[in-house]
Amino acid sequence: MALITVAVVAVSLAPMAWANGAANGIANSPHDFSNENWNNTGEICRTCHVPHDHGRDTGLVGLLWNHALPDTTGYVMYSSSSLDGAADTEPTGISKMCLGCHDGTVALDEFDSNVGTPGTTFIGSGDQVPNLPGSPQDLRATHPISIVYDISLDQELNDPDTTQMGASGRTISAFLENGKVQCSSCHDVHDSPTEAVAGTKLLREAQTAGQGGSPSGLCLTCHNK
Ligand code: HEC
Ligand code: HEC
Ligand code: HEC
Ligand code: HEC
Repeated sequence: MALITVAVVAVSLAPMAWANGAANGIANSPHDFSNENWNNTGEICRTCHVPHDHGRDTGLVGLLWNHALPDTTGYVMYSSSSLDGAADTEPTGISKMCLGCHDGTVALDEFDSNVGTPGTTFIGSGDQVPNLPGSPQDLRATHPISIVYDISLDQELNDPDTTQMGASGRTISAFLENGKVQCSSCHDVHDSPTEAVAGTKLLREAQTAGQGGSPSGLCLTCHNK
């Protein structure tokens, strides 16, 4: 039964691969799961947030979080001798929330009141991060996350308090969590009109002229290279 469900969902997700950030808000964006058969509520927000706790043990991490979180003890974080900012030893905060679906270890349908019911539908391998076959929690090939953005240590970073992030009308600091880079520093999970660039992987700033920006515009927002 579990295998059948996985197969059906894999097929139903495939035609949506084109559905990059539409920059129109979350409805009809890649994170609108209201029509997925694994979402028994038919709502949009509920796969991630709930107004009143339904017994998930994630309610206290903030943001009224309503989805199961991964066991973070198994991750291998990015590391290098030239890294200056302090990085957490495992994914924290918002990144941990994203990885609760995106590392492929936790089922998509483990949300809301289905506590204790093992989920059966997992994210497709193309949307899994990092896409290292056989090692879903190996983050060594992913841009550092859960790391402090510290311009006093790394002088090749732009000032987050004064540098604008894309067309958001806000500075880089608005997209750091307690001063740290997280998945949400680069991606807008809600794909809102002023923040995610249409036609990208929900990026907060374009990476090419074709996307309406400049080459590597997202990288150069933070990195003064
Ligand atoms: C409830 C599970 C869930 C959570 C939580 C979640 N995602 Fe996703 N995300 C998905 C699924 C499933 C897809 C694939 C959707 C598709 O193929 O249509 C996806 C797709 C994406 C994509 C690719 C979009 C595209 O255009 O192909 C990006 C980027 C992304 N998510 C980033 C994030 C980030 C960053 C976070 C946290 C801030 C996050 N996601 C949280 C389930 C989730
Ligand atoms: C796929 C998971 C997912 C879905 C679906 C989702 N959110 Fe979120 N939401 C997040 C994550 C992750 C964050 C923290 C990252 C951020 O703020 O960018 C967040 C942050 C928020 C915040 C606080 C920060 C802010 O942007 O103001 C609000 C409010 C919010 N979401 C409301 C909603 C509402 C309302 C819906 C439904 C219309 C919704 N979200 C759907 C994952 C999701
Ligand atoms: C420093 C910016 C940055 C951070 C941090 C970041 N991403 Fe990405 N992500 C990108 C860019 C840029 C792409 C576009 C694809 C590419 O260029 O490889 C992308 C692509 C993706 C995709 C689409 C699938 C793929 O591999 O192309 C997903 C899903 C995704 N990111 C999720 C995440 C999650 C989850 C996190 C946190 C663990 C995260 N990202 C952290 C910049 C970032
Ligand atoms: C939201 C800001 C932000 C964005 C956007 C961003 N970075 Fe970073 N990046 C950082 C921070 C902060 C560090 C950690 C710097 C340090 O402390 O040494 C980092 C580290 C790195 C490192 C590792 C450096 C080392 O010493 O090992 C590389 C390489 C890198 N970024 C490349 C990129 C690329 C390529 C992009 C675009 C896809 C990008 N970054 C986008 C903030 C960002």
